[in-house]
Amino acid sequence: MIESHADRILIVDFGSQVTQLIARRVRETGVYCEIHPFQNVSTESIQSFGARGVILSGGPASVTEAKTPRAPQALFNGSIGLPVLGICYGEMTMVQQLDGDVIPCDTQEYGSAMVEVTEDCALFEGVWKSGDQKQVWMSHGDRIEAIPKGFRVAATSETSPYAVIADDGRRLYGVQFHPEVVHTPDGAGLINNFTLGICGCKGTWTMAAFNVEQIAKIKAQVGKGRVICGLSGGIDSSVVAVLLHQAIGEQLTCVFVDHGLMRLGEAEQVIGLFRKNYNIPLIHRDAGDLFLGALEGITDPEQKRKTIGALFIDVFAEEANKAGGAEFLAQGTLYPDVIESVSFTGGPSVTIKSHHNVGGLPERMNMELVEPLRELFKDEVRLLGMRLGLPEELVGRHPFPGPGLAIRIPGEVTPEKADILRQADAIYLEEILNSGLYGEIWQAFAVLLPVQTVGVMGDARTYEYVCALRAVTSTDGMTADYYQFNHAFLSRTSTRIINEVRGINRVVYDVTSKPPATIEWE
Ligand code: XMP
Repeated sequence: MIESHADRILIVDFGSQVTQLIARRVRETGVYCEIHPFQNVSTESIQSFGARGVILSGGPASVTEAKTPRAPQALFNGSIGLPVLGICYGEMTMVQQLDGDVIPCDTQEYGSAMVEVTEDCALFEGVWKSGDQKQVWMSHGDRIEAIPKGFRVAATSETSPYAVIADDGRRLYGVQFHPEVVHTPDGAGLINNFTLGICGCKGTWTMAAFNVEQIAKIKAQVGKGRVICGLSGGIDSSVVAVLLHQAIGEQLTCVFVDHGLMRLGEAEQVIGLFRKNYNIPLIHRDAGDLFLGALEGITDPEQKRKTIGALFIDVFAEEANKAGGAEFLAQGTLYPDVIESVSFTGGPSVTIKSHHNVGGLPERMNMELVEPLRELFKDEVRLLGMRLGLPEELVGRHPFPGPGLAIRIPGEVTPEKADILRQADAIYLEEILNSGLYGEIWQAFAVLLPVQTVGVMGDARTYEYVCALRAVTSTDGMTADYYQFNHAFLSRTSTRIINEVRGINRVVYDVTSKPPATIEWE
């Protein structure tokens, strides 16, 4: 069998907000790729990576200023000899490093634009032809004034006379727009032409091949050792558990620490799935009282997160020890957690929220990590999950934060509030499912506000909690837009929550995007 990583593309990150989308589009063409920050890329690193082609990302800097990031010159002067696709900033630096001319635009160009295809080009094969007018997404403050020797123009736009340039001999291509975003409708086709056509990759990156390879890899890493896997009910840890079970069978023990802050019926679902459907050994620790007790009196969001995180590690370690311990800890770390992002501000980025994970465990228990999903994006994990036969409702499930409902109850968390929230949340999700909207939404959930308001129900005065509904669309959780439900949906859901849940007498809808808000309320 051909190794799924054999043909690979290197993406040099100049700090664009959408570099990860380049990687996802490349993977969708069936080609493995990695994102490396420009500071770490050298002639030697490109050669040792074994790339068949290189993509230079966009970025916030301007090549017209001194001391902005550059790509290794060897990429352009023929000494490496690989095809290169420069996107936005990547195109600008390629042009400038080859003695072309780049100047700041009089008017910066952001958003949709039309390009006119002026000549055929290997990038356009089967997608665009000469004479076409096509929609693209632009986001730039610089433009090319003169192209380097050897280049020709293949597409132009009103503000960018050099929207696509090509040097067919050296296989160097530059696009001023962003082919990786969905607002460039044919962008995926152009990237496909680069990876499969120009670079000659064979498209061997499939979840079927990955599955087979990972099983061999896990067996080689683990040998006859024992592995503990923490289950959360989410897709990542479920896929890890099923993959490990395929690879090493009874050497795997799963531990599900139920912190009492799951959604309605979720704990039962997780247990049912793993015990009944997969026959995977599973320790279920019902620690609801312990967690809710520890949260008593705590109102600060960070304090809540830290309390849950620390207790989770204690309980998990206790259960793992009771089960006889293990040499390995399996985790559902994904590729976006592994990528080092480029910081242009110099210092470390500010911590907005301390994410809940089991990061302290491996050292504390002296365990080695098994992380079979380290190379995957979330959508690839979903594909792998489907291949492994995980049920649709789990594979397509909205993300759920580690600290659970605790961060959806601003103020003090009590068992009563958690119960009220669970019921409201279940009604909201049921309405979304019944309306066929679940798949369009990245995440939807209810929040129980620490505010009581006056209401009137059946001639009587009520003084109860406010429930906020949140629904967002997103591609990676980094940015998000609030979902635009129609009013009939919101009225129906609000009526049902108020009629069916004791303790709530008012429902509001959160119309804030991220940024400036975050998706969760805490
Ligand atoms: P925010 O609220 O930061 O959330 O916009 C972005 C995404 O991350 C999820 N989230 C978490 N996931 N542990 C997790 O595993 C956490 O502690 C955590 N906090 C937030 C959130 O649900 C959203 O999908």
